[in-house]
Amino acid sequence: MVNVPTCRLSGSPLKLVLDLGQQPLGNGFLLPPQFGDEYFFSLQCGFAEDSRLFQLIEQPAPEMMFHQDYAFFSGTSQRMKQHFANFASDVIEKGFVTDTASFIVELGSNDGIFLGHFAQRGIPHLGVEPSGAVADAAESQGIRVIREFFNTNLARTIIEEHGQADVVSAANVMCHIPDIHELAQGIELLLKDNGVLIFEDPYLGDVIRLTSYDQIYDEHVFLFSALSVQSIFKTVGMELIDLQPQSTHGGSMRYTLAKEGRRPISTAVREILDRECAQGLDKTDTFIEFALRVSESGAALRGTMEQLRSEGMSIAAYGATSKSTTIYNYAGIGPDHIDYICDNTPLKQGKLSPGAHIPIFPEEHFREIPPDYAFLAAWNHEKELRDHNKAFESNGGRWITHVPRVHVLD
Ligand code: SAH
Ligand code: TMP
Repeated sequence: MVNVPTCRLSGSPLKLVLDLGQQPLGNGFLLPPQFGDEYFFSLQCGFAEDSRLFQLIEQPAPEMMFHQDYAFFSGTSQRMKQHFANFASDVIEKGFVTDTASFIVELGSNDGIFLGHFAQRGIPHLGVEPSGAVADAAESQGIRVIREFFNTNLARTIIEEHGQADVVSAANVMCHIPDIHELAQGIELLLKDNGVLIFEDPYLGDVIRLTSYDQIYDEHVFLFSALSVQSIFKTVGMELIDLQPQSTHGGSMRYTLAKEGRRPISTAVREILDRECAQGLDKTDTFIEFALRVSESGAALRGTMEQLRSEGMSIAAYGATSKSTTIYNYAGIGPDHIDYICDNTPLKQGKLSPGAHIPIFPEEHFREIPPDYAFLAAWNHEKELRDHNKAFESNGGRWITHVPRVHVLD
């Protein structure tokens, strides 16, 4: 357990802004014999006005979260497959990676959903991926993977073996890595003078706007804004050159950075930085107000489910997401509220959800034993899930969501 009462970047004291209580690992799906050893930690968030970094106070050790059986496979969503195909095309069209003389390194390459597009084109690439099962999936498609956690030492090893990179890319992993200064140093070292870092992560501005507090769980040690990304990379002489909002994962931001003075800066950078100041993403009070909305949201969700139960309604949840681990354990929602969760990930099926211990079944179960109401736990995949489950709605089933407020969908 790493206990950090100070900002991981600036070292200044963190202001405690949100307490989500005792929580298990977001992806800690388990079987009954493991209940006795289930790990819990205190999920509290702090904010530092100098670095503008919204961060967890405590985070479990990386090896507890990312290991052989890490259960999140990027390719479980068709929409995310398309997203990463478009992302890869964008990197190529912008000329960041040109031909077989270029070199791209991806941090957190998972099952190869992104790097596969470079492998197919014969572009030299390397995935950095500490989790075994997902790395196996990538390697089976001919993607080169190094099974390590990225840090400055690994950056040196990669440079010795392959040379510096034209592009370092990362999706939904930068926000997982606690030693943020060392991470930035390693990336700066690994990049050629004219190289770029392109990464995307769930966006703090959207979390505040939507009260999507379920984006906060063990793996997400940070929720970034452009303001905080700017502070992090300034310490290693890098600057934002572009910002592209994304609709994925319920609202994300794609950040492009280069070494200072090497590339032109798009107008989106100033616009989004100004918008963030107007939204108050640099002020502690914004997060204290957010915490009040979180408390109302948790109580409203549990209240809605209890009301439906009292009317004799059955409720299931769609998607055994790490995000929903936070909701169930914060709001006190368990098997008394939700009969089962369905999910298309074989590693999750047959297990129970972390902390709340709700059973997980394949998606077929949802079609065979449809509930009266279904909680959209994977709300970020709403369109895909509703498209796949039209019969549920046409037979009278209703979806419940908590974003941007708890309500039953029309
Ligand atoms: N990029 C994929 C996967 C995101 S999940 C996507 O966007 O869908 C995060 C992945 O990062 C996991 O597979 C995890 O094993 C990996 N990871 C965690 N810490 C890491 C680190 N320090 N260096 C590289 N990869 C890491
Ligand atoms: P995510 O919100 O972290 O991407 O996780 C989504 C979860 O939902 C993941 O476990 C896969 C599951 N899922 C399904 O079961 N069916 C689907 O159609 C989609 C898109 C996701």
